[in-house]
Amino acid sequence: MEAAVREPATGRTHAKTMPSERADVKKPVIVFEGVRIGFEHGDVLADVSFTVGPQETKVLLGETGSGKTLLLKIAAGLIRPDAGRLNVLGHCLDELSERELLAFRRQVGFVFQEGALFDSLSVRENVGFRLHEEGMGEEEIEDRVRQALRFVEMEDAIDKLPAELSGGMRRRVAIARAIIHRPPVVLYDSPTAGLDPVTAQTIIALILRLRDRSGVTALLATHRVQDAFALACFRYDPEENRVVRIDGKAEAPRTRVLVLRDGHVYFEDEAEALLRTQDAYLRRFLVSSEAVG
Ligand SMILES: Nc1ncnc2c1ncn2[C@@H]1O[C@H](COP(=O)(O)OP(=O)(O)OP(=O)(O)O)[C@@H](O)[C@H]1O
Ligand SMILES: [Mg+2]
Repeated sequence: MEAAVREPATGRTHAKTMPSERADVKKPVIVFEGVRIGFEHGDVLADVSFTVGPQETKVLLGETGSGKTLLLKIAAGLIRPDAGRLNVLGHCLDELSERELLAFRRQVGFVFQEGALFDSLSVRENVGFRLHEEGMGEEEIEDRVRQALRFVEMEDAIDKLPAELSGGMRRRVAIARAIIHRPPVVLYDSPTAGLDPVTAQTIIALILRLRDRSGVTALLATHRVQDAFALACFRYDPEENRVVRIDGKAEAPRTRVLVLRDGHVYFEDEAEALLRTQDAYLRRFLVSSEAVG
């Protein structure tokens, strides 16, 4: 089925309703090749290589301090690594000037650890912040903000301050803010941390919708191995407008798991392989969750 429409003025193709059916879907969207970054106390990422395919959500697992946030910031072009090559959405980040990096960052949504909303700004102002900075007109901003809030089912909270919201609601607003530019890539930094299991599931359901309805490619850092299993075992069904269990092996996996350890990729495979692993280090992640037992 052909869902892309050609825009005569620019010749660019735009997905109309189902970006998941875009034609240019084979090349990896994110490529890390031998990425290294260190500080006074040594390398945090020593030699990290991996790729993320189109519409894949790659789950990054790792102990605290293993470099997950750093890796996401490098992918977003917020921090330059000391060595290695990076390609995101076809851009070699190491070759971009600061000015080009600014334009690149618009194509990447970042859900910061803890949400990181501005406390003194309303939900409307938080979500529209970047559009204001770019000088977009008030009416269009209002439209875009409402659309993003509708997507995360938070439109009713548009006039509230972050302090008036629950942890789960703040996370939703942070996601709305990250997707305001309709970015093809979203980086989620521990989006379920500190939430109760039920609320965490609702956040994962949103992430599934972004993956399967909007065709977003993503990296998701987490301590919760359950997030990896939820992303691997469920998909968003546009016809039923709900999250459904993935039908066995019939469908291509949309999530792989990468475990960072001592600055290296210690494991990368499907979530199911993690579940079956006999590796003592990896099993520590499973034992600390409800995934086994
Ligand atoms: N700007 C910096 N200067 C010095 N050290 C840094 C800097 N940024 C990160 N680090 C160090 O890099 C390491 C990795 O940090 P990072 O925040 O990426 O870990 P993380 O895996 O996200 O941890 P958590 O699970 O707690 O969020 C930490 O030891 C941190 O102190
Ligand atoms: Mg972190």
